[in-house]
Amino acid sequence: MSRQGLHNKVVLGLQWGDEGKGKVIDQLAETTDVVVRCQGGANAGHTVVVGGHKTVLHLLPSGVLHPRATCIIGNGVVVEPAALIQEMDELKANGCDLSTRLKVSDRAHLVLPCHKALDAAAEKAKGAAKVGTTLRGIGPCYMDKMARTNLRAGDLLDPHFAERLRAHLTQQNHLILALGGDAVDIEGALAGLLPLCARIRPLVADTASLLHAAAAADKAMLFEGAQGVMLDVDYGTYPYVTSSNTGVGGVITGSGLSHKQLGEIIGVVKAYTTRVGGGPFPVELPDGTDAAGKLAKGEEIRQRGGEFGATTGRPRRCGWLDLVAVKFACRLNGVDSIALTKLDILDPEPELPVCIAYELDGVQIDTVPARLTDLARVKPIYEVLPGWKSSTSGVQNWSDLPLAAQAYVAFIERTTGVPVKWIGTGPGREATVVRKAAARA
Ligand code: IMP
Repeated sequence: MSRQGLHNKVVLGLQWGDEGKGKVIDQLAETTDVVVRCQGGANAGHTVVVGGHKTVLHLLPSGVLHPRATCIIGNGVVVEPAALIQEMDELKANGCDLSTRLKVSDRAHLVLPCHKALDAAAEKAKGAAKVGTTLRGIGPCYMDKMARTNLRAGDLLDPHFAERLRAHLTQQNHLILALGGDAVDIEGALAGLLPLCARIRPLVADTASLLHAAAAADKAMLFEGAQGVMLDVDYGTYPYVTSSNTGVGGVITGSGLSHKQLGEIIGVVKAYTTRVGGGPFPVELPDGTDAAGKLAKGEEIRQRGGEFGATTGRPRRCGWLDLVAVKFACRLNGVDSIALTKLDILDPEPELPVCIAYELDGVQIDTVPARLTDLARVKPIYEVLPGWKSSTSGVQNWSDLPLAAQAYVAFIERTTGVPVKWIGTGPGREATVVRKAAARA
């Protein structure tokens, strides 16, 4: 084994986001010293249920709920000041004060009002071909980063920050107007932003050095991926993707640690598939109701699984488990183990089609094609597994799962070649089967 930091863990979504990473991370964070977000921004929505109380985190690492964890927002994250302060204030009101244990990378880019205005204008300009973004300004902020023009959290320490912000907003307003959007009211934006920025300033730090020090002190670190591999800007269903690398690559560039320090790569997979926003989705099931008022299968799963966006509230598109996408994501990221979530949502299903390959122009393929036109045409090839038609809700032991549910899990392991170590059977922390190596097939 060549990787150092073997007690460190990386949690990645292996589908189109919303796999249930929040719960997995929350559990792993219990034994973690440092929790780290590495990419994305307030477009994420990680739901954690503790003692029946639901918390949705967008920008902060989900591990914040464990009081001993130091929380790092790494350089690869794009930070919207208002979103960060709002989230911190909400947590504080619930007794979780982060002011001394949260650090924001001085290299993290700021999501500014111009980015949100550009996001809205760009989506409007695209019409029917819109990406269906979260409108959180994520894409335009990463564009500004790559254009080498944006402001970073470290710039908050500059005594001339206000003038630089004013100049930047002025320049970005030209772009917004060119796209037919609504220019930002610069003085209004400054008045709103500067007090928030003053509150963020004490949190700004050289987080890469903090992480190196933590590694040298042999601290246990947990790297929290946001979105999912199929939304990765390089490997996802481009252009219907987010604007960051959502896999292991993003963890490395977004934290400042090397691949040797990542430890175990845990891929989170929902027992079926969902995606929110536009873009191809080979296993998508019909929504709505038929003429007799009967719910279509996609709608049934959506309602049973509560599949509505944690950030935008949008209904998620639902489908059967797509193991072509999962296998692709495992290969790209060297996934060591799978955390399977929401198994209980499939409880009533009499049979469970699982997509094991795609057919493209009469040819069977087992990978995700790059071209959108190909991906839009692929037909899923299903293997139909028997359902278990009994409740797995809250089950904690492997041996208490119905045999057909065990077979479903074993099928995922055989097809992906990756062990399923952890199975979610409900929203709460306790509704989890943790499998010891000996119990696995
Ligand atoms: P953006 O990240 O807001 O630019 O949105 C780009 C695409 O990624 C859209 O289809 C969004 O719905 C999707 N997306 C972004 N963040 C998440 C997430 O956390 N979960 C699921 N989908 C997401």
